[in-house]
Order: sequence, then structure tokens, then C-alpha cells
Amino acid sequence: MGPDLIRPTPFLLALSQPFLIIMLLFYGSRTITKNTSMAKDKITIVGAGNVGATTAHITATKQLGDIVLLDIVKGLAEGKALDIAESAPLSASASRRRDGQLFDSNIIGTTDWQKTAGSNLVIVTSGLPRKPGMSRDDLLTKNIQIVKDVSQKIAEYSPDSIVIVVCNPLDAMVYTAAKVTGFAKNKVMGMAGALDSARFSYFLSQELNVSVKNIKCVLMGGHGDDMVPLPRFTTVSEKPITELLDEKKIAELIERTRKGGIEIVNLLGYSAYYAPAVGVVKMAEAILKNANELICCCAYCDSEYNAGGFFVGVPAVLGQNGIEKIVELDLNGLELAEFQKSLDHVKQLTVQVDKLL
Ligand code: NAI
Repeated sequence: MGPDLIRPTPFLLALSQPFLIIMLLFYGSRTITKNTSMAKDKITIVGAGNVGATTAHITATKQLGDIVLLDIVKGLAEGKALDIAESAPLSASASRRRDGQLFDSNIIGTTDWQKTAGSNLVIVTSGLPRKPGMSRDDLLTKNIQIVKDVSQKIAEYSPDSIVIVVCNPLDAMVYTAAKVTGFAKNKVMGMAGALDSARFSYFLSQELNVSVKNIKCVLMGGHGDDMVPLPRFTTVSEKPITELLDEKKIAELIERTRKGGIEIVNLLGYSAYYAPAVGVVKMAEAILKNANELICCCAYCDSEYNAGGFFVGVPAVLGQNGIEKIVELDLNGLELAEFQKSLDHVKQLTVQVDKLL
């Protein structure tokens, strides 16, 4: 067939134009409409303050699911959710997925718990943060009431959800949420180890002048000044840091990690939220994508580490059932003693929770 024979005549072109437009609209719309063929996860974030709103923003850009941002203050969650939603067209080109979908997370803000109904995952950030001069434990009496109320609502509206608590004092608030919801122990957990180990990793990367990507850090215990970073299990390109730094330097970096929260509170006048939000999204992603990822977090331990039935920071595997497994490291005497001391502190807070609930 000669080229002349396949050249479209003006008549044929005119005829095909509406067809072309329809095809363009059809295929074009496929890149901007939402994927309705697969049910999306529904994620509720309670508290639209610093940690909650930042968590919502990262969750949206990662397209982990549809998001309900809830706060007790009228207008706050609605405003922040709208602002995040309006960033979608700008984020679109950056976050175009391999399958051609754009940033298409639905996000709404509300004060109405009914809109959270049927969530798969609930992230609890509704709590007072620290101010300079305060310890996390000073927040207990105020935050326990908030976490109690919120947990009752979670049990009512999303009885099949997995819950990640962020509020402080962390371990005690996780216990509160578990007790009030009555959910299975693997389905309630807290974010702290991800943040504390990120802080330790960052300080190590600065000291050793290596990328944070090469550092793997393990940290256990309660989310307080007695947390237990584990240098023997913390590695740079598989080498334990005990072979790279002297004891004094490691002790200095551990101390800075333990005081990492208050360092930021003293600078800002309120508490950190960028790194905490990334920490909680990392956990959420591992659960929603059933990644079976090892992340240090606050989880229920019974025979594990001889904890005797308390929520405390440990390395755990996170997947679709929440806590899939607690990883038991072969701790030496000193490490066990430090973990025990931290656990004792967690136990004392738990006793106070039982009195206050
Ligand atoms: P924030 O004050 O900025 O936000 C808290 C939000 O919760 C406020 O918007 C408030 O209106 C809302 N809220 C209070 N009661 C509520 C209720 N009953 N229902 C719904 N919303 C309610 O505080 P920020 O900085 O976001 O911190 C939140 C919590 O997370 C604090 O307890 C803080 O100590 C803790 N935190 C924990 C970290 C961790 O590593 N686990 C790290 C950083 C913060």
C-alpha cells in the first residue's frame, strides 16, 4: 500500500475529530478519576494539631488510603484537610504513580465521629504536648481522659480497626487505648521507637559522617529518659557501632537521644512533629501494605523479655494484623537490667492509669 492511500482525507479527519475528543476525554479521565475498582483503606487521624496534620499530609501524599482527620476544635480539621486536599494538584506530577494514577487520596476534616466509621486504621494524636520544663509523665492526668474518650469512640465506630497511639506518656496511653477499646493486643500499639531510633541514627550519621541509609538502629524500653538504645545491635553497614566509636562517645549520643524530645521542646516551646509524623506513617504503611517490616514500637509483651503483660518498646514485625511478632534479641546482663529499669517505670505509670480510668 502506497503512502498516499493511507493519508486521511479532510472529510475523514473531520469525521474522526469528535471520536478523537471522546477518546482523549476517556483516556485522559482515567488518569484523573479515582480508582474505584479496589476498596481503599480508610485511615482516621484523631487530633489535627502538629503531629496529626503532618501525619495526614504525609499519608495523603503517599496515597495510603482515604483519610478522615478529626479534631474536637470546630473548623480545625476541616481547614487543614482542605488545605492538604488543595495541595493534590500541585503534588500530582511529583507523585504520579507507575499505573498513571495521580495523588488521589480523599481527605476530609471533621468533628463528627460518624464520618470515621469503618476505618481500618486509627492514629491517635489527640493529646496535650509538652512545654519547656515538663516531663512526658506530667501529661498523664490530662491525656488519659482524652485517650479514654477517643478510645470509646474508636471501639464504637471502627471496631475492626488497628490503633496506633502517639500521645504521651506513650506507653501508658497505649495501655489506656488497649484497655478501653478491648481490642486484641496485637491491634493496639504505640509510636515511639521509630522516632527515638531515627534520632539515634541521625546523631550517629553526623558523628561518623555516613549516610543515615547505612545505619540500622535498635532501641527498646519505655518512651522516656530511661529508653534503652542498644549499641551492640546498632550497626553501620552491618558493623556494630561498638567497633566504630568509643564508649564515651556512644554514651554521649545515647544521652542526646534520650533527651531528644526535650531538646526540641526547649528550642520550639512545643514538641516535635515532623519526625514523629514520619515515624507513625512508617508504621501505618507497614500495616496497610502488609510489609512485615521490623520497626521498634510499643507493643504488648507477656513472656517476651519476661515483661509480664505490659505495653513497652520492643523490636516488632508489623503487618496486616498489626503486631505480627515481637523479635527477641539475645540481650546481655547489662542490657536486660536497663530494659527492666525502663519496664519498671512503665509498670508504675500503668498502675496510675488503672487508678484513673
Ligand atoms: P497539638 O496540641 O498540636 O495537637 C493536639 C490536637 O488534639 C489539638 O488540635 C486538639 O484540639 C486535639 N484534641 C484534643 N482533645 C481531643 C479530642 N478529645 N478529640 C479530638 N481531638 C482532640 O499536639 P501535638 O504536638 O500534635 O502532639 C500530640 C500528642 O502527641 C501529644 O500528647 C504529644 O506529647 C505526643 N507526641 C508523641 C510523640 C511520640 O514519640 N510518641 C512525639 C511527639 C508528640
